Amino acid sequence: LLIATRTVKSINLDVSGEEIASQLLHLATFTDDPNPAVTRIVFTENDLLARGYVKELMTAAGLTIREDPMGNIFGRWEGSDPDAGAVMSGSHADAIPLAGAYDGTLGVIGPIAAVAALRKAGFQPRAPIDVLMFTSEEPTRFGLGCIGSRGMAGELTAALLDEKLDVNGTSFLEASTAAGYGGSTHQILDGTLVKEGAVKAFVELHIEQGPLLEAEGTQLGIVTAIAAPAALRVFFSGDGGHAGALLMPYRNDAGLAAAEVALAVEASVLETGAIDAVGTTGLFEIGPNTVNSVPREAKLEIDIRDIDAARRDAIVASVLKTVEEVAARRKVRHRVEMINQDAPATCSDQVISAAAEAAEELGVSHKRMVSRAYHDSLFMARFAPTGMIFIPCRNGWSHRPDEFATPGDIERGIKALALTLAKLAGS
Ligand code: GLV
Ligand code: MN
Ligand code: MN
Ligand code: MN
Repeated sequence: LLIATRTVKSINLDVSGEEIASQLLHLATFTDDPNPAVTRIVFTENDLLARGYVKELMTAAGLTIREDPMGNIFGRWEGSDPDAGAVMSGSHADAIPLAGAYDGTLGVIGPIAAVAALRKAGFQPRAPIDVLMFTSEEPTRFGLGCIGSRGMAGELTAALLDEKLDVNGTSFLEASTAAGYGGSTHQILDGTLVKEGAVKAFVELHIEQGPLLEAEGTQLGIVTAIAAPAALRVFFSGDGGHAGALLMPYRNDAGLAAAEVALAVEASVLETGAIDAVGTTGLFEIGPNTVNSVPREAKLEIDIRDIDAARRDAIVASVLKTVEEVAARRKVRHRVEMINQDAPATCSDQVISAAAEAAEELGVSHKRMVSRAYHDSLFMARFAPTGMIFIPCRNGWSHRPDEFATPGDIERGIKALALTLAKLAGS
Protein backbone atom coordinates (compact mmCIF):
# COMPACT_ATOMS: atom_id res chain seq x y z
CA LEU A 1 0.00 0.00 0.00
CA LEU A 2 1.51 3.27 -1.10
CA ILE A 3 0.92 6.36 0.95
CA ALA A 4 1.63 9.68 -0.65
CA THR A 5 3.49 11.85 1.80
CA ARG A 6 3.49 15.53 1.12
CA THR A 7 5.13 18.46 2.74
CA VAL A 8 2.62 20.47 4.69
CA LYS A 9 5.17 22.75 6.27
CA SER A 10 3.15 25.82 5.48
CA ILE A 11 0.26 24.77 7.72
CA ASN A 12 0.02 27.06 10.70
CA LEU A 13 -1.59 25.01 13.45
CA ASP A 14 -3.65 26.59 16.18
CA VAL A 15 -3.66 24.11 19.09
CA SER A 16 -3.89 25.10 22.75
CA GLY A 17 -2.36 22.54 25.09
CA GLU A 18 -4.09 24.29 28.01
CA GLU A 19 -7.49 23.91 26.39
CA ILE A 20 -6.95 20.23 25.61
CA ALA A 21 -5.72 19.64 29.17
CA SER A 22 -8.93 21.15 30.50
CA GLN A 23 -11.01 18.96 28.16
CA LEU A 24 -9.11 15.91 29.45
CA LEU A 25 -9.81 16.95 33.02
CA HIS A 26 -13.49 17.43 32.19
CA LEU A 27 -13.61 13.96 30.65
CA ALA A 28 -11.97 12.71 33.86
CA THR A 29 -15.00 13.86 35.87
CA PHE A 30 -16.96 10.93 34.42
CA THR A 31 -15.59 8.43 36.89
CA ASP A 32 -16.71 5.85 39.45
CA ASP A 33 -13.97 6.96 41.90
CA PRO A 34 -13.29 10.55 42.99
CA ASN A 35 -10.71 12.56 40.98
CA PRO A 36 -7.81 12.63 40.56
CA ALA A 37 -8.51 8.90 40.19
CA VAL A 38 -10.43 7.87 37.11
CA THR A 39 -12.34 4.58 36.94
CA ARG A 40 -14.49 4.21 33.85
CA ILE A 41 -15.63 0.76 32.90
CA VAL A 42 -17.03 0.09 29.46
CA PHE A 43 -20.81 0.51 29.01
CA THR A 44 -21.37 1.83 32.55
CA GLU A 45 -23.13 5.15 33.09
CA ASN A 46 -19.86 7.09 33.25
CA ASP A 47 -18.61 5.45 30.05
CA LEU A 48 -21.82 6.52 28.33
CA LEU A 49 -21.43 10.08 29.69
CA ALA A 50 -17.84 10.15 28.42
CA ARG A 51 -19.04 8.95 25.01
CA GLY A 52 -21.59 11.78 24.99
CA TYR A 53 -18.88 14.36 25.72
CA VAL A 54 -16.58 12.96 23.03
CA LYS A 55 -19.42 13.10 20.52
CA GLU A 56 -20.13 16.73 21.50
CA LEU A 57 -16.48 17.61 20.83
CA MET A 58 -16.60 15.75 17.50
CA THR A 59 -19.74 17.60 16.46
CA ALA A 60 -18.25 20.96 17.49
CA ALA A 61 -15.24 20.15 15.27
CA GLY A 62 -17.59 19.58 12.34
CA LEU A 63 -17.13 15.81 12.23
CA THR A 64 -19.89 13.48 11.08
CA ILE A 65 -20.51 10.75 13.64
CA ARG A 66 -21.03 7.08 12.95
CA GLU A 67 -21.04 4.26 15.53
CA ASP A 68 -20.56 0.59 14.79
CA PRO A 69 -22.49 -2.17 16.59
CA MET A 70 -19.65 -2.64 19.06
CA GLY A 71 -19.77 0.99 20.08
CA ASN A 72 -16.62 2.12 18.29
CA ILE A 73 -17.29 5.81 17.50
CA PHE A 74 -16.06 7.42 14.26
CA GLY A 75 -16.06 11.17 13.59
CA ARG A 76 -15.42 11.80 9.90
CA TRP A 77 -13.92 14.73 8.06
CA GLU A 78 -14.74 14.07 4.40
CA GLY A 79 -11.89 14.15 1.92
CA SER A 80 -11.97 15.36 -1.66
CA ASP A 81 -11.49 11.82 -3.05
CA PRO A 82 -14.61 9.75 -2.40
CA ASP A 83 -12.78 6.53 -3.32
CA ALA A 84 -9.86 6.92 -0.92
CA GLY A 85 -9.54 4.76 2.19
CA ALA A 86 -9.70 6.72 5.44
CA VAL A 87 -6.76 7.89 7.47
CA MET A 88 -7.77 7.17 11.04
CA SER A 89 -6.59 8.31 14.43
CA GLY A 90 -8.02 7.28 17.76
CA SER A 91 -7.71 5.57 21.09
CA HIS A 92 -9.91 4.69 24.05
CA ALA A 93 -11.66 6.45 26.91
CA ASP A 94 -12.33 3.54 29.23
CA ALA A 95 -10.10 3.51 32.30
CA ILE A 96 -9.02 0.71 34.61
CA PRO A 97 -9.83 1.04 38.33
CA LEU A 98 -8.00 3.98 39.92
CA ALA A 99 -6.32 5.11 36.71
CA GLY A 100 -5.61 8.67 35.56
CA ALA A 101 -6.87 11.25 33.08
CA TYR A 102 -4.51 10.76 30.11
CA ASP A 103 -4.17 7.08 29.10
CA GLY A 104 -6.21 6.63 25.93
CA THR A 105 -8.17 9.87 26.33
CA LEU A 106 -5.37 11.99 24.84
CA GLY A 107 -5.61 9.84 21.73
CA VAL A 108 -9.36 10.52 21.44
CA ILE A 109 -9.50 14.23 22.22
CA GLY A 110 -6.11 14.94 20.60
CA PRO A 111 -7.09 14.04 17.03
CA ILE A 112 -10.34 16.03 17.33
CA ALA A 113 -8.18 19.08 18.06
CA ALA A 114 -5.71 18.08 15.32
CA VAL A 115 -8.46 17.91 12.72
CA ALA A 116 -9.98 21.21 13.91
CA ALA A 117 -6.56 22.88 13.61
CA LEU A 118 -6.01 21.50 10.09
CA ARG A 119 -9.43 22.71 9.03
CA LYS A 120 -8.83 26.15 10.52
CA ALA A 121 -5.52 26.33 8.67
CA GLY A 122 -7.36 25.83 5.40
CA PHE A 123 -6.11 22.30 4.77
CA GLN A 124 -8.43 20.07 2.72
CA PRO A 125 -7.59 16.37 2.90
CA ARG A 126 -7.76 14.16 -0.14
CA ALA A 127 -8.57 11.01 1.87
CA PRO A 128 -11.19 11.25 4.60
CA ILE A 129 -9.86 11.55 8.14
CA ASP A 130 -11.71 9.63 10.87
CA VAL A 131 -11.27 10.31 14.56
CA LEU A 132 -11.98 7.09 16.38
CA MET A 133 -12.89 6.13 19.91
CA PHE A 134 -12.58 2.40 20.52
CA THR A 135 -14.75 0.32 22.82
CA SER A 136 -13.03 -1.34 25.78
CA GLU A 137 -9.32 -1.17 25.17
CA GLU A 138 -8.95 -2.07 28.85
CA PRO A 139 -9.64 -5.63 29.97
CA THR A 140 -11.35 -4.61 33.21
CA ARG A 141 -14.92 -5.63 32.53
CA PHE A 142 -14.66 -8.66 30.25
CA GLY A 143 -11.11 -9.83 30.92
CA LEU A 144 -10.05 -9.18 27.32
CA GLY A 145 -8.45 -5.93 26.13
CA CYS A 146 -8.88 -4.12 22.79
CA ILE A 147 -12.31 -5.64 22.15
CA GLY A 148 -13.40 -2.93 19.69
CA SER A 149 -10.23 -3.02 17.61
CA ARG A 150 -10.14 -6.83 17.68
CA GLY A 151 -13.64 -6.68 16.24
CA MET A 152 -12.53 -4.28 13.51
CA ALA A 153 -9.63 -6.58 12.65
CA GLY A 154 -11.82 -9.70 12.56
CA GLU A 155 -10.07 -11.25 15.56
CA LEU A 156 -13.23 -11.90 17.59
CA THR A 157 -15.43 -14.96 17.41
CA ALA A 158 -19.14 -15.27 18.06
CA ALA A 159 -18.31 -17.37 21.11
CA LEU A 160 -16.25 -14.56 22.59
CA LEU A 161 -19.14 -12.11 22.44
CA ASP A 162 -21.53 -14.57 24.01
CA GLU A 163 -19.14 -16.06 26.56
CA LYS A 164 -17.14 -13.04 27.75
CA LEU A 165 -18.93 -12.37 31.02
CA ASP A 166 -18.37 -9.63 33.55
CA VAL A 167 -18.35 -10.29 37.31
CA ASN A 168 -22.16 -10.14 37.34
CA GLY A 169 -22.49 -12.71 34.58
CA THR A 170 -23.48 -10.12 31.95
CA SER A 171 -22.13 -10.95 28.48
CA PHE A 172 -20.53 -8.44 26.13
CA LEU A 173 -23.54 -8.91 23.86
CA GLU A 174 -25.98 -8.01 26.64
CA ALA A 175 -23.93 -5.08 27.93
CA SER A 176 -23.46 -3.55 24.47
CA THR A 177 -27.14 -3.96 23.70
CA ALA A 178 -28.12 -2.30 26.99
CA ALA A 179 -25.83 0.60 26.06
CA GLY A 180 -27.72 1.08 22.79
CA TYR A 181 -25.30 -0.77 20.53
CA GLY A 182 -25.24 -4.47 19.79
CA GLY A 183 -27.71 -6.49 17.80
CA SER A 184 -27.35 -10.16 17.08
CA THR A 185 -23.90 -11.68 17.50
CA HIS A 186 -23.50 -11.84 13.73
CA GLN A 187 -24.71 -8.30 13.21
CA ILE A 188 -22.09 -7.16 15.70
CA LEU A 189 -19.25 -9.10 14.10
CA ASP A 190 -20.18 -8.24 10.51
CA GLY A 191 -21.02 -4.63 11.28
CA THR A 192 -17.72 -4.04 13.08
CA LEU A 193 -15.33 -5.82 10.71
CA VAL A 194 -13.50 -3.30 8.53
CA LYS A 195 -13.83 -3.85 4.79
CA GLU A 196 -10.65 -4.30 2.82
CA GLY A 197 -9.17 -1.01 1.64
CA ALA A 198 -11.36 1.06 3.96
CA VAL A 199 -8.41 2.19 6.09
CA LYS A 200 -5.44 3.79 4.40
CA ALA A 201 -3.46 4.36 7.61
CA PHE A 202 -3.91 4.55 11.37
CA VAL A 203 -2.03 6.71 13.88
CA GLU A 204 -2.55 6.72 17.66
CA LEU A 205 -1.39 9.53 19.93
CA HIS A 206 -0.64 8.36 23.49
CA ILE A 207 1.28 9.19 26.63
CA GLU A 208 4.42 7.05 26.76
CA GLN A 209 3.40 5.24 29.99
CA GLY A 210 7.13 4.76 30.58
CA PRO A 211 9.94 7.05 31.77
CA LEU A 212 12.32 7.26 28.80
CA LEU A 213 11.21 10.41 26.97
CA GLU A 214 11.02 12.51 30.12
CA ALA A 215 14.32 11.18 31.47
CA GLU A 216 16.13 11.90 28.20
CA GLY A 217 14.42 15.21 27.57
CA THR A 218 13.09 13.95 24.23
CA GLN A 219 9.82 15.57 23.19
CA LEU A 220 8.21 12.85 21.06
CA GLY A 221 8.45 9.11 20.69
CA ILE A 222 7.71 7.45 17.36
CA VAL A 223 6.72 3.86 17.90
CA THR A 224 8.29 1.15 15.77
CA ALA A 225 6.73 -1.95 17.37
CA ILE A 226 4.25 -2.97 20.06
CA ALA A 227 5.15 -5.74 22.51
CA ALA A 228 3.16 -8.97 22.46
CA PRO A 229 0.69 -9.31 25.35
CA ALA A 230 -0.69 -12.50 26.86
CA ALA A 231 -3.07 -13.02 29.75
CA LEU A 232 -4.30 -16.06 31.60
CA ARG A 233 -6.51 -16.94 34.52
CA VAL A 234 -5.68 -19.67 36.99
CA PHE A 235 -8.14 -21.16 39.46
CA PHE A 236 -7.22 -23.43 42.38
CA SER A 237 -9.63 -25.07 44.76
CA GLY A 238 -8.92 -27.03 47.91
CA ASP A 239 -11.10 -28.28 50.73
CA GLY A 240 -10.63 -25.40 53.17
CA GLY A 241 -11.29 -25.81 56.87
CA HIS A 242 -10.82 -24.37 60.33
CA ALA A 243 -7.61 -22.37 60.80
CA GLY A 244 -7.09 -23.77 64.28
CA ALA A 245 -8.40 -27.27 64.04
CA LEU A 246 -7.16 -28.41 60.62
CA LEU A 247 -3.55 -29.48 61.20
CA MET A 248 -0.89 -28.59 58.64
CA PRO A 249 -0.33 -32.10 57.16
CA TYR A 250 -4.02 -32.37 56.23
CA ARG A 251 -4.45 -29.10 54.37
CA ASN A 252 -4.71 -28.38 50.65
CA ASP A 253 -4.51 -24.59 50.75
CA ALA A 254 -5.59 -23.01 47.46
CA GLY A 255 -4.17 -19.63 48.51
CA LEU A 256 -0.68 -21.01 48.99
CA ALA A 257 -0.82 -22.75 45.61
CA ALA A 258 -1.71 -19.38 44.08
CA ALA A 259 1.09 -17.65 45.98
CA GLU A 260 3.61 -20.11 44.59
CA VAL A 261 2.38 -19.47 41.07
CA ALA A 262 2.58 -15.68 41.51
CA LEU A 263 6.20 -16.03 42.61
CA ALA A 264 6.87 -18.43 39.73
CA VAL A 265 5.61 -15.82 37.25
CA GLU A 266 8.26 -13.43 38.50
CA ALA A 267 10.95 -16.12 38.52
CA SER A 268 10.12 -17.35 35.00
CA VAL A 269 10.44 -13.84 33.65
CA LEU A 270 13.67 -13.06 35.51
CA GLU A 271 15.20 -16.35 34.38
CA THR A 272 15.13 -15.15 30.77
CA GLY A 273 17.56 -12.38 31.72
CA ALA A 274 15.71 -10.20 29.19
CA ILE A 275 14.85 -6.66 30.24
CA ASP A 276 12.04 -6.65 27.65
CA ALA A 277 10.18 -9.53 29.31
CA VAL A 278 7.63 -8.64 32.00
CA GLY A 279 5.16 -10.65 34.05
CA THR A 280 2.53 -9.43 36.53
CA THR A 281 0.03 -11.21 38.74
CA GLY A 282 -2.26 -8.19 39.03
CA LEU A 283 -5.33 -9.98 40.30
CA PHE A 284 -5.11 -12.32 43.28
CA GLU A 285 -8.29 -13.39 45.03
CA ILE A 286 -8.78 -16.00 47.69
CA GLY A 287 -11.91 -17.30 49.30
CA PRO A 288 -13.47 -17.24 51.74
CA ASN A 289 -10.82 -14.56 52.49
CA THR A 290 -11.28 -14.66 56.18
CA VAL A 291 -8.64 -14.86 58.93
CA ASN A 292 -9.64 -18.12 60.57
CA SER A 293 -10.36 -20.17 57.46
CA VAL A 294 -7.91 -22.10 55.26
CA PRO A 295 -8.28 -20.66 51.72
CA ARG A 296 -10.51 -22.95 49.70
CA GLU A 297 -10.56 -21.01 46.42
CA ALA A 298 -7.98 -18.90 44.61
CA LYS A 299 -8.11 -17.00 41.37
CA LEU A 300 -5.18 -15.34 39.64
CA GLU A 301 -5.02 -13.16 36.54
CA ILE A 302 -1.56 -13.08 35.06
CA ASP A 303 -0.23 -10.69 32.40
CA ILE A 304 2.94 -11.66 30.49
CA ARG A 305 4.52 -9.58 27.71
CA ASP A 306 7.66 -9.35 25.64
CA ILE A 307 8.70 -7.80 22.35
CA ASP A 308 9.92 -11.31 21.45
CA ALA A 309 6.79 -13.44 21.05
CA ALA A 310 8.66 -16.77 21.20
CA ARG A 311 10.31 -15.84 24.49
CA ARG A 312 6.92 -14.64 25.81
CA ASP A 313 5.40 -17.98 24.84
CA ALA A 314 8.20 -19.84 26.64
CA ILE A 315 7.42 -17.90 29.83
CA VAL A 316 3.72 -18.73 29.47
CA ALA A 317 4.61 -22.41 29.03
CA SER A 318 6.81 -22.35 32.10
CA VAL A 319 4.03 -20.79 34.19
CA LEU A 320 1.55 -23.42 32.97
CA LYS A 321 3.98 -26.16 33.94
CA THR A 322 4.33 -24.66 37.42
CA VAL A 323 0.54 -24.60 37.81
CA GLU A 324 0.40 -28.36 37.12
CA GLU A 325 3.32 -29.10 39.39
CA VAL A 326 2.01 -27.01 42.30
CA ALA A 327 -1.51 -28.43 41.96
CA ALA A 328 -0.20 -32.00 42.09
CA ARG A 329 2.13 -31.39 45.03
CA ARG A 330 -0.44 -29.46 47.08
CA LYS A 331 -3.32 -31.74 46.07
CA VAL A 332 -5.53 -28.88 44.92
CA ARG A 333 -7.81 -28.92 41.88
CA HIS A 334 -6.92 -26.46 39.14
CA ARG A 335 -8.22 -24.91 35.94
CA VAL A 336 -6.52 -22.53 33.51
CA GLU A 337 -8.17 -20.16 31.02
CA MET A 338 -5.93 -18.65 28.38
CA ILE A 339 -7.46 -15.18 27.84
CA ASN A 340 -5.27 -13.99 24.99
CA GLN A 341 -1.86 -14.66 23.53
CA ASP A 342 -1.42 -12.03 20.85
CA ALA A 343 1.32 -11.51 18.31
CA PRO A 344 3.37 -8.30 18.51
CA ALA A 345 2.90 -5.57 15.90
CA THR A 346 5.39 -3.85 13.65
CA CYS A 347 4.62 -0.26 12.77
CA SER A 348 4.48 0.89 9.16
CA ASP A 349 7.56 2.58 7.70
CA GLN A 350 5.33 5.05 5.90
CA VAL A 351 3.58 6.13 9.08
CA ILE A 352 6.89 6.24 10.97
CA SER A 353 8.43 8.44 8.26
CA ALA A 354 5.41 10.74 8.14
CA ALA A 355 5.56 11.20 11.93
CA ALA A 356 9.33 11.77 11.85
CA GLU A 357 8.95 14.38 9.08
CA ALA A 358 6.19 16.05 11.07
CA ALA A 359 8.43 16.23 14.14
CA GLU A 360 11.29 17.65 12.04
CA GLU A 361 9.04 20.31 10.55
CA LEU A 362 7.90 21.33 14.01
CA GLY A 363 11.49 21.40 15.27
CA VAL A 364 10.59 18.88 17.97
CA SER A 365 13.13 16.35 19.26
CA HIS A 366 12.08 12.74 18.71
CA LYS A 367 13.27 9.16 18.93
CA ARG A 368 12.06 5.79 17.76
CA MET A 369 10.93 3.45 20.50
CA VAL A 370 8.99 0.31 21.33
CA SER A 371 5.59 0.41 23.02
CA ARG A 372 5.55 -1.93 25.97
CA ALA A 373 1.92 -1.23 26.74
CA TYR A 374 -0.61 -2.56 24.27
CA HIS A 375 -3.03 -0.35 22.41
CA ASP A 376 -5.75 -0.63 19.82
CA SER A 377 -2.92 0.03 17.36
CA LEU A 378 -1.85 -3.58 17.96
CA PHE A 379 -5.01 -4.73 16.16
CA MET A 380 -5.26 -1.88 13.63
CA ALA A 381 -1.77 -2.93 12.50
CA ARG A 382 -3.20 -6.34 11.55
CA PHE A 383 -4.96 -4.78 8.55
CA ALA A 384 -3.72 -1.21 8.04
CA PRO A 385 -0.37 0.63 8.00
CA THR A 386 -0.16 1.77 11.62
CA GLY A 387 2.00 3.95 13.83
CA MET A 388 1.94 5.69 17.19
CA ILE A 389 3.19 9.00 18.56
CA PHE A 390 4.15 9.15 22.23
CA ILE A 391 4.50 12.20 24.44
CA PRO A 392 6.36 12.19 27.76
CA CYS A 393 4.40 11.65 30.97
CA ARG A 394 5.48 12.57 34.47
CA ASN A 395 7.85 9.97 35.92
CA GLY A 396 6.54 7.48 33.38
CA TRP A 397 3.51 7.01 35.62
CA SER A 398 0.38 5.48 34.17
CA HIS A 399 -2.54 3.38 35.39
CA ARG A 400 -2.46 5.51 38.54
CA PRO A 401 -4.33 8.65 39.60
CA ASP A 402 -1.24 10.90 39.42
CA GLU A 403 -0.70 10.18 35.72
CA PHE A 404 0.16 13.56 34.11
CA ALA A 405 1.37 15.13 30.88
CA THR A 406 2.15 18.85 30.53
CA PRO A 407 0.06 21.13 28.30
CA GLY A 408 3.22 21.86 26.31
CA ASP A 409 3.83 18.19 25.56
CA ILE A 410 0.15 17.70 24.75
CA GLU A 411 0.27 20.61 22.31
CA ARG A 412 3.42 19.33 20.57
CA GLY A 413 1.95 15.83 20.31
CA ILE A 414 -1.28 17.10 18.74
CA LYS A 415 0.57 19.30 16.26
CA ALA A 416 2.79 16.39 15.25
CA LEU A 417 -0.30 14.22 14.90
CA ALA A 418 -2.02 16.86 12.75
CA LEU A 419 0.91 17.12 10.35
CA THR A 420 1.21 13.34 10.23
CA LEU A 421 -2.48 12.97 9.36
CA ALA A 422 -2.19 15.67 6.71
CA LYS A 423 0.76 13.89 5.08
CA LEU A 424 -0.99 10.53 5.14
CA ALA A 425 -4.30 11.90 3.83
CA GLY A 426 -2.70 14.06 1.14
CA SER A 427 -4.26 17.23 -0.19
C1 GLV B 1 -3.23 -1.28 28.24
O1 GLV B 1 -3.70 -0.49 29.06
C2 GLV B 1 -2.19 -2.15 28.64
O2 GLV B 1 -2.41 -2.87 29.65
O3 GLV B 1 -1.13 -2.14 28.02
MN1 MN C 1 -4.50 1.66 30.05
MN1 MN D 1 -4.06 3.20 26.03
MN1 MN E 1 -3.91 1.21 27.51
